[in-house]
Amino acid sequence: KRFNIKDINEAKSKALITEAAQLLRAGQTVAFPTETVYGLGADATNSEAVARIFQAKGRPQDNPLIAHVATKEQLKKLVTEIPDYVDKLIEKFSPGPITYVLPSNGACVDNVTAGLSTIGVRIPDHPIAIELLKACNVPIAAPSANLSGKPSPTSADHVWQDLNGRIAGIVDGGPTGVGVESTVVDCTQKIPIILRPGGVTREELENTVGPVMMDPALVDISENEKPRAPGMKYTHYAPEVPLWIIDGPLERMQEVINEQRKIGNRVGVLLSSASYPQIQADNKWILGDHIQEIASKLYDGLRYYKQSDVDIIICESFPDEGLGQAVMNRLRKAASVHLK
Ligand code: TXA
Ligand code: MG
Repeated sequence: KRFNIKDINEAKSKALITEAAQLLRAGQTVAFPTETVYGLGADATNSEAVARIFQAKGRPQDNPLIAHVATKEQLKKLVTEIPDYVDKLIEKFSPGPITYVLPSNGACVDNVTAGLSTIGVRIPDHPIAIELLKACNVPIAAPSANLSGKPSPTSADHVWQDLNGRIAGIVDGGPTGVGVESTVVDCTQKIPIILRPGGVTREELENTVGPVMMDPALVDISENEKPRAPGMKYTHYAPEVPLWIIDGPLERMQEVINEQRKIGNRVGVLLSSASYPQIQADNKWILGDHIQEIASKLYDGLRYYKQSDVDIIICESFPDEGLGQAVMNRLRKAASVHLK
């Protein structure tokens, strides 16, 4: 069932959210918007409900889910201890695109954490998500609402493309804002460690709590380092056709495009607004003017190109700083070739 929310303040919308919450409380799966991407929710205190998430997405069983709650008090009820720096981070960034990995107190069932002793918890910054979580009044486990391996969904249509017929409902709240997922931060050590770059940047975290580390697996993308967020080891975000990322000047990108077209490949490109007029290809897609807009349109771009249109997608690369860290992390995972 599709619940279309036009204006969260209308009585009709409130009734739809109540209905969606009833499905969740009855152990069903419902997709809903957050400020980052759409999530596929289920009652995090009900292991059969949580199992339905893994089934619908085709998600590997060893990949833990994030528990979503509406308030700081509810967040604290899922974990055993909160270091001082986490209090600071919560004050500054929650609700917002950040997930804290903390020791679990067992309030959520084992398949949420995939058997780990820690749990990822987050307060989304989206009025529909917050209303829904309040109406449920239980923590809601929610991974991104895509088929495992596909780009995350930033609209209800993306969710529909992937999961229609596999889930009980979708709450349609229009396109999401941030466009890349939350920053996952391991908060079990003296210094916070970024396990997945996301909507809150390393620079923003460091301005609040001082030095922050990156999971070595994010820096060494060869197979030498095993990522500490289980989900980070999987192929991800893959578009329908091979994606190539090209570093360096646009002339080089144009050369590669020309070579590919010469051997008969149809080439689609993903470009910033500034680069757009400078490149010739069979099909072009604008990601946006600045890195915030590029992040918000990235998954739409990766889903835009179909096998029927192009044989290869070529994307420019962006500076690995600020929100660019999250964008480049997703692009590297989605790409089959990275020309440096
Ligand atoms: O923005 C988001 O975070 C979205 C929206 C829906 O909230 N959710 C999302 O969930 O991206 P998912 O399941 O697609 O990604 C969660 C990531 C995975 O890489 C997972 O391995 C990691 O977080 N994770 C979750 N719990 C963890 C834990 N206890 N320890 C280490 N990593 C964890
Ligand atoms: Mg995901």
